[in-house]
Amino acid sequence: MINAAVVGYGHWGPVLHKSFQAHPLIHVSWVCEKSHKRLVSALAIYPALKVTDDYMDVLNDKEVSLVVIATAVSTHYEIAVSALEARKHVFIEKPMTKNIEEAQSLITLSQKYGLKVFVDHIMVYSEGIAKVKGLIENGVLGDLYFLDFFRQNLGLYREDVNVLWDLASHDLAVLHYLTNETVDFVSCTGAARLDGINYDMAHLSIKYKNGLIANINVSWLYPLKVRRLIVAGSKQMLVYDDSQLGAAIALYGKGVQFINNEQKKGYEYRDSKSFMIELEGILPLTREIECIVDSILNNTAHIAGAHEGLEVVRLLEAAQFSLQNSGSPVFI
Ligand SMILES: NC(=O)c1ccc[n+]([C@@H]2O[C@H](COP(=O)([O-])OP(=O)(O)OC[C@H]3O[C@@H](n4cnc5c(N)ncnc54)[C@H](O)[C@@H]3O)[C@@H](O)[C@H]2O)c1
Repeated sequence: MINAAVVGYGHWGPVLHKSFQAHPLIHVSWVCEKSHKRLVSALAIYPALKVTDDYMDVLNDKEVSLVVIATAVSTHYEIAVSALEARKHVFIEKPMTKNIEEAQSLITLSQKYGLKVFVDHIMVYSEGIAKVKGLIENGVLGDLYFLDFFRQNLGLYREDVNVLWDLASHDLAVLHYLTNETVDFVSCTGAARLDGINYDMAHLSIKYKNGLIANINVSWLYPLKVRRLIVAGSKQMLVYDDSQLGAAIALYGKGVQFINNEQKKGYEYRDSKSFMIELEGILPLTREIECIVDSILNNTAHIAGAHEGLEVVRLLEAAQFSLQNSGSPVFI
């Protein structure tokens, strides 16, 4: 049995609490939250819960072995370091830290104490993304041309990070998971339309050394909830719409080829059958927690740890620099 504590009980903390508690091998014994009102709401659902507004109370409890950190990004590092020093495994919300140095320091600490760091790159646990990875790796799509990500909706505006760090972190984690390619440079433009300070829309391009390109569009200022990934390859193209549970992947036999031989020179288009790949609708968080439990209890590998957290933060830092320099390319 894993005894867990949730630190941060705002919007996302309760979702994590409910999902971790639902696993038969996890017991969430503590919630730590600065807001008294939020603690009262947690107690209303779980009357036997231990509550505090000081995370040191949680860390001093020898029974707790996993600390789930669901506070604002700017606070992740401080809480994670204290938890690791108290010899607890940690689950940290995305993005893992606010800079590369902090991410590297978490890797060093976790290695020093032999503890696990799980980063909530929740989308890499999505059933749809697992299918997309399979299609890429089995050559069904052919040589990859590009990956386009769209993640937009109205809000939630955050004060300590911009939309890039908040939303593009999901897509960068997926990108890292799907491709093993080496990034050449990133370029990012955006705007702070609401207050002129905090970027609420951004367009990030990532160019790989092998020519592959990925584009990530994120916005907090959008009338629709859009969660879409389009991957184009030399054999087939796909659209994965993740805006609702039970979403499917549409696989299109469309393509275009440049012919240049003695008989013909020009572009040849094809539009063969398209079909849908149905998904079972298992929540990514359910799959993620299953993997975390297995990793803690059986010491198995997991797909979103501190190294993956660092890679995402590395690209976010580069993108942020480009954003502040009118989209200038930043070589990695
Ligand atoms: N993986 C996902 O899909 C997903 C979705 C939403 C949010 N998130 C992430 O979750 C984290 C929290 O987001 P949110 O929307 O819940 O934010 P939020 O502001 O609604 O909640 C954060 C809570 O943490 C509390 N808090 C801050 N410092 C604390 C401390 N030292 N001790 C105890 N409590 C403290 C605050 O009082 C607040 O209630 C962020 O890192 C965000 O990026 C992830």
